[in-house]
Amino acid sequence: PEIYAVVPAAGIGSRMQADRPKQYLTIAGKTILEHTLETLISHPDIHRVIIAISPSDEYFSTLPVSQAQWLTVVAGGHDRATSVQNGLAALPEQSWALVHDAARPCLSHADITTLLGVISDDTQTGGILASPVRDTMKRATKTGSGALNVSHTECRDNLWHALTPQLFNTGVLRNALVQGIAAGATITDEASAMEAQGHQVRLIEGNPANIKITRPADLPLAAFYLSEQAS
Ligand code: CTP
Ligand code: MG
Repeated sequence: PEIYAVVPAAGIGSRMQADRPKQYLTIAGKTILEHTLETLISHPDIHRVIIAISPSDEYFSTLPVSQAQWLTVVAGGHDRATSVQNGLAALPEQSWALVHDAARPCLSHADITTLLGVISDDTQTGGILASPVRDTMKRATKTGSGALNVSHTECRDNLWHALTPQLFNTGVLRNALVQGIAAGATITDEASAMEAQGHQVRLIEGNPANIKITRPADLPLAAFYLSEQAS
């Protein structure tokens, strides 16, 4: 079965506080979205890219990449999970969906290749890139006055940050998202919907440079990681 990249790109980037959605900010001469799309489609194992764009988007159609033959554009939804669902609807049932945030332009081909290794492991429905937690982790509790106290220190062993891409069998993931949304779950990544349905999700260590650009300070950091990749 073929591998399709599904790119949710319909967010407004409220935490970035820029004059446009963050995926349209420029780093090293290209928009964040263009970096992301070009990395995905230039990987030899990725067949096509499906992108979810907000119906009110004014920027996407001005980019040359919007005319690319390898790209299918679908409407974004009111949250990330719905944007992903709309993208999955454009895929054949028998395929692999590699879901990757538009806001992660520093993804490397090496990490994509490592993740694609789960396809040859038939004990797994799919897997995700993740990176181990480095900070000491505290569980907080609210005091009577509303201030926060440390409840206890969480054991950091086996605690990971979930990244994207996240790779799953398309039909199975579609079903898991439908069930999760019907159950009223908050679905912040594909894996959580899969886990809730009892599927095994493989965890694969990815490069921590694959950051999600969220706040203004992430822009120079991403520029640095991209320049390192180019050198
Ligand atoms: N996304 C989407 N559809 C939505 C919301 C988010 O496709 N309704 C996408 C974003 O474009 C982004 C990815 O999901 O590529 C991860 O979301 P996030 O980093 O939260 O981006 P935004 O929602 O745009 O940012 P913010 O939460 O700060 O508003
Ligand atoms: Mg968001």
